Amino acid sequence: MILSIESSCDDSSIAITRLSDKKLLFHKKISQDAEHAKYGGVVPELAARLHAVTLPKILEEAQPYFSELKAIAVTNEPGLSVSLVEGVSMAKALSVALHLPLLGINHLKGHICSLFIEDEIRFPMDVLLVSGGHTQLLHVKSLEEITLLATTMDDSFGESFDKVGKMLGLPYPAGPLIEAYALKGNAKRFDFTIPLQGTSTSLLAFSYSGLKNQVRLCVEAQEKLDEQTICDICASFQRVAVAHLMQKIKKAYKERSVEHFGVVGGASANLYLRGELEAFCASKKATLHTAKMEFCSDNAAMIGRCAVEAYAKGTFVSIVDLKVRSTYE
Ligand code: KG4
Ligand code: ZN
Repeated sequence: MILSIESSCDDSSIAITRLSDKKLLFHKKISQDAEHAKYGGVVPELAARLHAVTLPKILEEAQPYFSELKAIAVTNEPGLSVSLVEGVSMAKALSVALHLPLLGINHLKGHICSLFIEDEIRFPMDVLLVSGGHTQLLHVKSLEEITLLATTMDDSFGESFDKVGKMLGLPYPAGPLIEAYALKGNAKRFDFTIPLQGTSTSLLAFSYSGLKNQVRLCVEAQEKLDEQTICDICASFQRVAVAHLMQKIKKAYKERSVEHFGVVGGASANLYLRGELEAFCASKKATLHTAKMEFCSDNAAMIGRCAVEAYAKGTFVSIVDLKVRSTYE
């Protein structure tokens, strides 16, 4: 079995995955959303302090599996460095105390593996990663051969939901709330412009800061932000945010074939986005792969699944060499 730890942002999570059949034997996650909500976003120092309290609590519950562990895996990149350090320090301590090898796991590869929890890995696959930190379109030949087809020039898809939510007085993380409000709103009431059109149509990239500013101006122009107006802004924003993603995805596959398309990351829980991706995949005769809802946002189960692959390849790292990296290219 492998014990995996995830603490790259504001979720503390530990999982136990069986090596032989990839079965998830234990998985627990404690989200810090409520603590960060009042600040309108993640406060790194607070996140780190909370990880230091919650990770040991979860670890205690995983203790019955300790005698059968073969390795310790931990997210070491990318993420908030002060948060990553908490998980990595715990992993190093466990590695020394239990005499077990250590695996450093990339968080983005972890998200890709959320598609294969308790399942066999299937590549090649093209993957859209939409989270609070990333908006990436990837061609994944294997976990070692990943080509970046497009990324964001500024804000990420999930981050734009969080920032628009903040303007509307919604608590962090606002993604799920915006999706819920949008269901009650008129998506055509506000005519926001789809980003990167006109002269930039040839560019294969995403951009969300301009759309965010359009929403800001719209919010400021409202005499009164009543419930219906909030719902209409959410619906209009979500329509355009997803239309931008879809426009660029369609452009990317105009002359590229795709058979298997996956969507991962916290924002991949968005059903409106999933619906648009379904339609796109149907038009391309491709299969859409989605993670179970509980594995879309950050979790240690996906890190454990990725670690099973790393274990098979023997890519262990010493406690001295395992380093935290906030960015990843
Ligand atoms: O993957 P994740 O848990 O953390 C990062 O690695 O960033 O993603 C969190 C992000 C947040 O920005 C959150 O607002 C967004 O995912 N999110 C959503 C939805 N659920 C979560 N965005 C849009 N619609 C949703 N239903
Ligand atoms: Zn993530």
